[in-house]
Amino acid sequence: MQKLSQQTGYILADNYKYVADIYNQLMEKVDYKFWAKYLYKLASLYNDKNSIVLEVAAGNCRLADHLSDTFKNYIASDISISMLKKNESLSFQKVCCDMTILPFKSGFDLVICAFDSINYLTNKKSIQNFFTQVKNILNEDGIFLFDAALEKNSFKHQKYASKKGSSNGVTFNRQSIYLQPSRIHKNIFEISYPDGRKFIEVHKQKIYPLEFYFEALEKSGLYAIECFNAFTFRDCKPSDLRAQFVVKRKN
Ligand SMILES: C[S@@+](CC[C@H](N)C(=O)[O-])C[C@H]1O[C@@H](n2cnc3c(N)ncnc32)[C@H](O)[C@@H]1O
Repeated sequence: MQKLSQQTGYILADNYKYVADIYNQLMEKVDYKFWAKYLYKLASLYNDKNSIVLEVAAGNCRLADHLSDTFKNYIASDISISMLKKNESLSFQKVCCDMTILPFKSGFDLVICAFDSINYLTNKKSIQNFFTQVKNILNEDGIFLFDAALEKNSFKHQKYASKKGSSNGVTFNRQSIYLQPSRIHKNIFEISYPDGRKFIEVHKQKIYPLEFYFEALEKSGLYAIECFNAFTFRDCKPSDLRAQFVVKRKN
């Protein structure tokens, strides 16, 4: 039986309902094993295999598949039930919940939010809520790893704005648009099923300036001990593609 539970009392937006069917194909070039190793390297400076881990916005749990090999107390969560259901692993628990209203009290040694998922929080208030939730559930010595897409990443995607593909007979066409004045990056998916059904799913991300995250962390009682250019151990610059934060509680 799947270890999957759902947050109650809230209406959770299944914002990846159709993209869940083509997600692996869409991410065919993403090396999750490499990504998980990088996160493990960061985490292992502060955590051991007994650490209690929460991953938020885990999607279909590709990182959790790798990281739960080491961390045996692992919960993967996401707002999209369709994404979580795509993963059949019994090695970790899955909880469908909104990362801005976490249904957990405390006791986590490590919280992970990966692959631009924070950019799905499109207003500053929800980022603040998320950080406050993380602060509340993190142990005194716990760490919080999150990455954030920066503007250069959006400009890069503009160059390859459309992508087509198919997975088990489900075809997709993605258009990517970066609206620089509002810093909103939209991915518009047209998804067609073999039985003729067609759906449009729009994913909206906000591309915050790098310094915003430092201010928001500070306001929530957290601070960045490191901010790396993602996948490296060198300090991040605002002109990099993606920032990798290593965060602690101020206590
Ligand atoms: C780009 S995907 C990344 C998924 C996964 N981390 C990965 O590495 O493949 C972004 C994920 O964020 C989730 N998400 C968006 N808003 C969320 C929220 N408020 N709470 C929890 N998950 C959310 C989406 O459902 C989606 O699975």
